[in-house]
Amino acid sequence: MADLKNIVLVVLASCLLAIEIAIGEEDMLLINYHIHITNDLPLLSPANDVPTLYLHCKSKDDDIGLKAMRVWDDYTWIFKVNVLRTTLFSCNARWTKGKQRHFDAFVASRDEERCQKYHNSCMWSVRSDGIYFSNNNSTWTNTYPW
Ligand SMILES: *[C@@H]1O[C@H](CO)[C@@H](O)[C@H](O)[C@H]1NC(C)=O
Ligand SMILES: *[C@@H]1O[C@H](CO)[C@@H](O)[C@H](O)[C@H]1NC(C)=O
Repeated sequence: MADLKNIVLVVLASCLLAIEIAIGEEDMLLINYHIHITNDLPLLSPANDVPTLYLHCKSKDDDIGLKAMRVWDDYTWIFKVNVLRTTLFSCNARWTKGKQRHFDAFVASRDEERCQKYHNSCMWSVRSDGIYFSNNNSTWTNTYPW
């Protein structure tokens, strides 16, 4: 009985693998994606106070936790896209001027390809007028204005 169960499991696993190979995207599931979120907020006048950015990111399975970020801190995590390609990390960002924004740091359907260009990284920069995206660490787009 146990043997039969094992055989069924092996056959099922082989089928899944065959399907993945057939659609020719199996290699993507092996990629370790890196998310970088940097606090690029300006210093607050008049005392040049360092603004604290509160960031909380999570997916269905992983809660990265609430982080208090100083200026230029880089909040990074690494993960693989799930087999169903439903991986989604959403974040809440809040800083001292009472600004708050929800944004999606990684959506498999949107980011799986574009974030392979530069060290498999999706890069976000939190600035005074919004949350900017880059996939090559050189051109930045204000994707989520405050
Ligand atoms: C992006 O470029 C900056 C400035 O050169 C560098 O400090 C940073 O490490 C780079 N980010 C990544 C994710 O490589
Ligand atoms: C970075 O990406 C942007 C937008 O895709 C592109 O216009 C720009 O040429 C790229 N820069 C470099 C240095 O690859």
